[in-house]
Amino acid sequence: MGKVISFANFKGGVGKTSTTALVGYNLSKMGKKVLMIDFDAQANLTSLLLKTKSKDEDIVTIGTSLMSAITNNINLGEIVLNIEDNLDLIPNAVDFSMYPRFLEKEFDDENKRVSFFNSLIVDLKKEYDYIFIDVPPTLSLLNDTAFFSCDQIVVVLQTQERSLAGAEIFIKYLQDTLIDIFHSGVDILGILPVLSKKGAKVDLVVLEEAKKEFGENNVFNNTISIMERVKRMDMTGITDDKKDIHDKRVHSAFSNVAKELLDRLEME
Ligand SMILES: Nc1ncnc2c1ncn2[C@@H]1O[C@H](COP(=O)(O)OP(=O)(O)OP(=O)(O)O)[C@@H](O)[C@H]1O
Ligand SMILES: [Mg+2]
Repeated sequence: MGKVISFANFKGGVGKTSTTALVGYNLSKMGKKVLMIDFDAQANLTSLLLKTKSKDEDIVTIGTSLMSAITNNINLGEIVLNIEDNLDLIPNAVDFSMYPRFLEKEFDDENKRVSFFNSLIVDLKKEYDYIFIDVPPTLSLLNDTAFFSCDQIVVVLQTQERSLAGAEIFIKYLQDTLIDIFHSGVDILGILPVLSKKGAKVDLVVLEEAKKEFGENNVFNNTISIMERVKRMDMTGITDDKKDIHDKRVHSAFSNVAKELLDRLEME
């Protein structure tokens, strides 16, 4: 059975989508079968991966959106798009903003709402080694349904500002709501720091505080730093030119995180 994982935080713009895409991409290069599910109506992951794919092909069209698949009872396996070898995507679109309303109309029972998405991906877990769900930055029914279906959550922590308190609130929310009330089996795999600049004092201070707060073992040893090349990929899609030092640097950082993710999963 594949593992379902989300890089999450309820703070916006901390690198959840880029990290999901680049960790997933690097796992697929290591020969793991990876599915990414875009769970955000903003569809940033969809846009990034379609750009990655369309370098090889001229036109990429999305047939059925996640929302219309859900409302029309279409098996999610049928809307999977192949991006690269070992790397697939369930794309999303703006109509996904209807999803919470759909859940509220469809189910009276809160437990049924929260566990609904899990029932849709049960079969997919048999086909992939890893399924990543890229969520929007909220504490909401929408995200609860994603987190409920996760085995593990990696908390993305930007170390350049006062994000520690936010991460604490997020973890407490997962514990108090998902685990205690809805009895989800989700676990927190660790905290992944995203540093503003290598060696910047504020990063180091926040990193130390995070280790004190969450325990040294719970903070990833491999961190991500802010790299212009990652930002450029919003426009170009994922680039991976073996002769380009910037691409090499990006993939070296994210493949190290991917390897640590595998190690941590193994230790679970
Ligand atoms: N390691 C990085 N280095 C440089 N830029 C980055 C890095 N990670 C993310 N970014 C950039 O920061 C912006 C926000 O990143 P991203 O969309 O991944 O964050 P997010 O947490 O998914 O945001 P949202 O909460 O809106 O979903 C994007 O323009 C992205 O390219
Ligand atoms: Mg995002």
